[in-house]
Amino acid sequence: MAAVVHLVAGARPNFMKVAPLYKALQRERWCRLVLVHTGQHYDWEMSDVFLRDLGLPPPDLALGVGSGTHGEQTARILMAYEKELLAERPDWVVVVGDVNSTLACALAAAKLGIPVAHLEAGLRSWDRAMPEETNRVLTDHLANLLWTPSLDAGENLQREGIPSQRIERVGNIMMDAYEMLRPRIEEKRAADALGLSPRGYGVVTLHRPENVDHPERLTTIVGALAETARLAPLVFPVHPRTRARLESGGLGIRLESAPGVRLLPPLGYVSFMALVREAMFVITDSGGLQEETTYLGIPCLTLRAATERPVTVTQGTNRLISPEGLRPAVEQVLKGAWPRSRCPELWDGCTAGRAARSLAARVEASSDP
Ligand code: UD1
Repeated sequence: MAAVVHLVAGARPNFMKVAPLYKALQRERWCRLVLVHTGQHYDWEMSDVFLRDLGLPPPDLALGVGSGTHGEQTARILMAYEKELLAERPDWVVVVGDVNSTLACALAAAKLGIPVAHLEAGLRSWDRAMPEETNRVLTDHLANLLWTPSLDAGENLQREGIPSQRIERVGNIMMDAYEMLRPRIEEKRAADALGLSPRGYGVVTLHRPENVDHPERLTTIVGALAETARLAPLVFPVHPRTRARLESGGLGIRLESAPGVRLLPPLGYVSFMALVREAMFVITDSGGLQEETTYLGIPCLTLRAATERPVTVTQGTNRLISPEGLRPAVEQVLKGAWPRSRCPELWDGCTAGRAARSLAARVEASSDP
């Protein structure tokens, strides 16, 4: 009989990690896949457009939990998912990334003794003030199989005492999603559509609580963006959390009216990657974008004090900067004085296949008499 494998997604950055793995596992005869969507993100532009772009079917299980405080959201997912696990017990649960859905579903499964695989394991920012860091650490310690994207991630796990036989380096799944959709991304003329010239603008994304939830910090960032837009136009697809903070602080109008700044609604995967691919630089606090820019060789200015993805700095185009450092950094980009990237090992578009083979081996081992 085929092994039942749950593949869990909940929030925007999960969908591009789940999609390549879904495709790889769908081909396997040993496996019956169940796509689980917790509903942590629910708006069309935060969820459905990604399912559509990435060719994912409607979820088999939709938990519909919605927004809330961390405790509420995590608890609602835990309760709703446990009910599903009790109704039909899968052989494996696969979780990805570091959002609340990742931790809640891993915990629900672990408590019932159902083995958990974590894709994108071992990343550490060493900053416990980030909710994602708590999610990463706890998920890794609940997981039976830890798929890491890079060498440093495996080293972090070993230092934390996780047995090495649980850890497998499979590479970075984000590149699989990009390669899967490369033709569609490349045929889109994103810059043209906005009246911009390719390599003539910067893309901005910001949504981390540390940047947008504190009015003083957000005011400084808005000022720095307005200054930077004098050097090159900035296109900013605004996350709902950020939109709410900008509006409540009266900063939205200031940003919108700054010369050179263009605010957009959140974009789907293909439209967004098309915009990034043609950009001169990216300003962000996202995790995935630090990796995508390294892969594409585009300068990435990360408005954070730490990164859980250090290879994007040591081998890639990523630099951590403060709001005050933004304008000087863009001046450097304009002068062509930005470091080039070397693509990290196993960021090759074949990660989903490696993860699928790894899971097949574990399933086979557990069914041996
Ligand atoms: C979550 C993840 C973060 C990830 C980000 C990507 C956690 C702890 N955080 O943060 O790691 O980088 O997603 O987007 O899991 N909202 C909508 N529509 C939606 C979803 C949310 O309007 O479809 C609004 C709600 O007002 C909500 C707020 O955005 O309260 C924040 O959403 P939430 O899922 O709590 O956190 P994110 O900031 O999106």
